[in-house]
Amino acid sequence: MWCFKFHLRPLGIGILLSCLTACGPSPDGTATAHNDRATSPRSRMPADPGLKSLYIQSCYSCHSSGVASAPRSGNTEDWAPRINKGMDVLLRNTLNGIGSMPPKGMCHGCSDNDLARLILFLAGESE
Ligand code: HEC
Repeated sequence: MWCFKFHLRPLGIGILLSCLTACGPSPDGTATAHNDRATSPRSRMPADPGLKSLYIQSCYSCHSSGVASAPRSGNTEDWAPRINKGMDVLLRNTLNGIGSMPPKGMCHGCSDNDLARLILFLAGESE
């Protein structure tokens, strides 16, 4: 399973939970949500309602469509080189901002744990 190929250093329980729940059914009824290639980056949503609202308020505007070459949600090709950096680097770059992405991906109410879960979701690790 792809989840276990993601070389995470332990960052908190949230990440483990995201991985464990990655195979659950999608409440949005998007039956194809398990298959990254069959799911449009625009229709992918986190299953967790709290995470979903954070995602819609912040990351969605850029990562659903790939604005300014943002890696698209759930697109394994876009994410592969980034995942290779390791989760701690991705989280640090999200906190500080990188390229055209502002610090915290514009989610100022997000905790580190929220951001880590959003990163996993974007990278296709959970839904
Ligand atoms: C204003 C547009 C914008 C928003 C909003 C945004 N991003 Fe990004 N994001 C980008 C762009 C553009 C890149 C590519 C940056 C680069 O590599 O130059 C990026 C890259 C990333 C990366 C890869 C970083 C790396 O080291 O390669 C992560 C992780 C990420 N975003 C997470 C998030 C999360 C989580 C949110 C929501 C909380 C979010 N982004 C919101 C535009 C955005």
